[in-house]
Amino acid sequence: MASASSQSVHRATTTAPVNIAVIKYWGKRDTTLNLPTNSSLSVTLSQRSLRTLTTASCSANYPAEDTLNLNGKPQEIQSSKRTLACLSNLRALRKSLEDADASLPKLSAMPLRIVSENNFPTAAGLASSAAGFAALVRAVADLYSLPQSPKELSRIARQGSGSACRSLMGGYVAWRTGELADGSDSLAEEVAPAAHWPEMRALVLVVSAEKKDVPSTEGMQTTVNTSELFAHRAKTVVPERMNAIEAAIRDRDFPKFAEITMRDSNTFHATCLDSWPPIFYMNDVSRAAVRLVHDINQAVGRTVAAYTFDAGPNAVIYYEEKDEELVAGTVKAILGADTTGWEGPFYEKLANVSAPGVS
Ligand code: DP6
Repeated sequence: MASASSQSVHRATTTAPVNIAVIKYWGKRDTTLNLPTNSSLSVTLSQRSLRTLTTASCSANYPAEDTLNLNGKPQEIQSSKRTLACLSNLRALRKSLEDADASLPKLSAMPLRIVSENNFPTAAGLASSAAGFAALVRAVADLYSLPQSPKELSRIARQGSGSACRSLMGGYVAWRTGELADGSDSLAEEVAPAAHWPEMRALVLVVSAEKKDVPSTEGMQTTVNTSELFAHRAKTVVPERMNAIEAAIRDRDFPKFAEITMRDSNTFHATCLDSWPPIFYMNDVSRAAVRLVHDINQAVGRTVAAYTFDAGPNAVIYYEEKDEELVAGTVKAILGADTTGWEGPFYEKLANVSAPGVS
């Protein structure tokens, strides 16, 4: 909600969730506009433990330059093309409102001050840039009272970080690659609300809270430029999987959802291994989690759990609430008991969020 706390400072605060892709975005066809080589699909996690809290304010009395403070540290935004792109897009939208209505305060001409805080490790493969840019875009859009829908705002968040465009919505969210060169059709949209499949749960296993070795932006371009598997994944494998997983979500078919999720995580990491030089995001603990999930599914005789790994060693395990004890209980008992290689803690979070901005 936007408010003018005094005559001179205008302020809005919002929170945004993390999303974890089940069909991974990996590769850009346009690095300036941040356009992907393939569509992707994610589940938005609950904000109860993983979220970014952002306050955006503006005032004619602030020093001339926009500022961004992340987790208590000032950030160099003048050299961050991504942050500048988001802010200039949002300002332009505000400016057009002000041009159409002379009675509106000229917020677009005022310096911005943005203060943001994650309650989880930054850049450790826990989708911090997704929640971060989604919160930044939502907070400034609220400050500016922009009428644009989350889908329209996803075009702006995408330029901050690709995966951020999916954190503007709750539930099950697809980011369509789009066809147009200007990226205007490369948008996120809700495939199903969280309430469609509220039994879905996600267990986040923090193997390491360290910053990742190869940042995703750099890693994905190495893959685009050097992997022979990559084009096959982007052109053939992902389009089929997008259709199949959307059908699985529509039918609330967990075994199908789970198999596609695990296969896509494996294919994504296979293209990383196929890059030159090869990129490794998973480690021995990650692989132990993979084996454990397959063991659980085999022992139970049906697919009750699905793992997925982003650009880091941490595991996210999806399961349905009815299998909580079977999955989360077993994972914690086995992997949690031996903390070697783990920096813990376990986050157990519900993939059940209606929308960001609930603060
Ligand atoms: C493995 O969205 O962090 O998490 O657009 O360069 O900021 P940039 O990349 P980013 O990449 C996320 C990659 C991923 C898969 C996914 O979330 O879809």
